Amino acid sequence: MSSMQPLYVIVLAAGEGKRMRSQHPKVMLPLAGRPLLAHVLETARALDPMRIVAVYGHRGEVLRAAFADNPDLLWVHQVEQRGTGHAVRLALEQVPEHARVLVLFGDVPLLRPETLRPLVEARAPLAVLAAEVPDPQGYGRVVRDGLGQVRAIVEERDADSEQRQLRVINTGILAADARRLRVWVANLDCNNAQQEYYLTDVFAQAAEEGMPAICLLAPDASEAEGANDARQLARLEARLRNRGAARLLDAGVRLADPSRIDVRGSVDCGMDVEIDIDVILEGRVVLGDGVRIGPFCRLRDVELAAGSEVRAHCDMEGVVSTGPCRIGPFARLRPGSVLGEAAVVGNFVEVKNTRLNEHAKASHLSYLGDAEVGAGANLGAGTITCNFDGFEKHRTVIGADAFIGSNSALVAPVVIGEGATIGAGSVITRDAPANELTVARSRQSTLPHWRRPPRKPRR
Ligand code: UD1
Ligand code: CA
Repeated sequence: MSSMQPLYVIVLAAGEGKRMRSQHPKVMLPLAGRPLLAHVLETARALDPMRIVAVYGHRGEVLRAAFADNPDLLWVHQVEQRGTGHAVRLALEQVPEHARVLVLFGDVPLLRPETLRPLVEARAPLAVLAAEVPDPQGYGRVVRDGLGQVRAIVEERDADSEQRQLRVINTGILAADARRLRVWVANLDCNNAQQEYYLTDVFAQAAEEGMPAICLLAPDASEAEGANDARQLARLEARLRNRGAARLLDAGVRLADPSRIDVRGSVDCGMDVEIDIDVILEGRVVLGDGVRIGPFCRLRDVELAAGSEVRAHCDMEGVVSTGPCRIGPFARLRPGSVLGEAAVVGNFVEVKNTRLNEHAKASHLSYLGDAEVGAGANLGAGTITCNFDGFEKHRTVIGADAFIGSNSALVAPVVIGEGATIGAGSVITRDAPANELTVARSRQSTLPHWRRPPRKPRR
């Protein structure tokens, strides 16, 4: 394409996806935690298109709502699925004459921009991405002349036995000049096995007009694989998992088992990071030097300072540590959790919108919500911040070096002074002064001479 040509990407996503046996539009099904279509849009955007035109079919309102904040996206409704050629014809109504067009499928999510760029930049009015596969069954076959130029693409159902032997298949992805493509798709008919307007028939037209398409082979055929059923979707998920693990290994991260980690976002790791089995990383994760993540953890949008340790079975989202800290096993950290150096969040502790300053510890069985825990404060087992009065959330402030006895309820809003001690089992409803002991529970008493009433012995 000439450098003046704006790029328009057409994404075909109107197919029903019957084989998925799902009530959701196929391109909404999640792959690595995001809809299939989101992966395709990300790839498209890496090519700097002027616009992306998405062709949708059934349940379009779901799609449009899910991708509402994409101002570069134009939607085209294909009411009846009359074939890929028909879908492209509709989409081209949104594309200016001088544009270059790239056609992608909404259910082919693994293609990399590097693979597509040569297609877009090819100096030919029509170019197709092909792939050589061991088992071409189900795909359109690329019929080429002696020079390697495309004479036609024949769908399997319309192919003769000789054509079926061909192992170079049509990935479905093509690039073309909008002006030509518009003429070619206008000429399509549906005299074929499926009675559909095949986009692939444009290749024979182009060849007849003396403009045979050039054929580019995908370096890795598996990139062009689509998700037509649950089995294929799982296979794509495994491929993405491998890609994610490979990136971490390249960065020197030590993975206990590269087949048992799921990277569903961006991960940035320092040196000597170790990750045990069955860990899921989502959103944006940053792990400093020497961070260790135990088995069976999920981290979403988490930033851990060098030297931090997460033990087994933690669920963490929206967490920042500003120094080496220790988390888990079995901890749940929710958005707004901030941990200072040497802070400890131990087993069965839930933390939300709470800062634990350096050396603050909640080692067992606590709920800390909307709280600030001063440096060196120690929260006994079972400390609960009662942050919700049924209508609103309130803050709890715990001073530095405070000591909260086990099984205490701190009813917010409340302030525990620096160095204060709270007796175990207290329900604290008013501020507790610094450096004093505050106890808020009934006194223990013993009733002398009390005896249990006699009972008949059990038989
Ligand atoms: C298509 C190609 C085939 C290729 C294969 C690669 C055609 C005629 N055949 O076959 O050569 O080897 O992909 O996977 O193009 N879609 C619409 N509207 C429609 C029909 C389809 O938007 O009316 C969309 C689907 O949602 C899908 C894509 O187009 O994303 C491909 O359609 P599909 O029916 O899966 O084509 P295949 O038969 O697999
Ligand atoms: Ca398909």
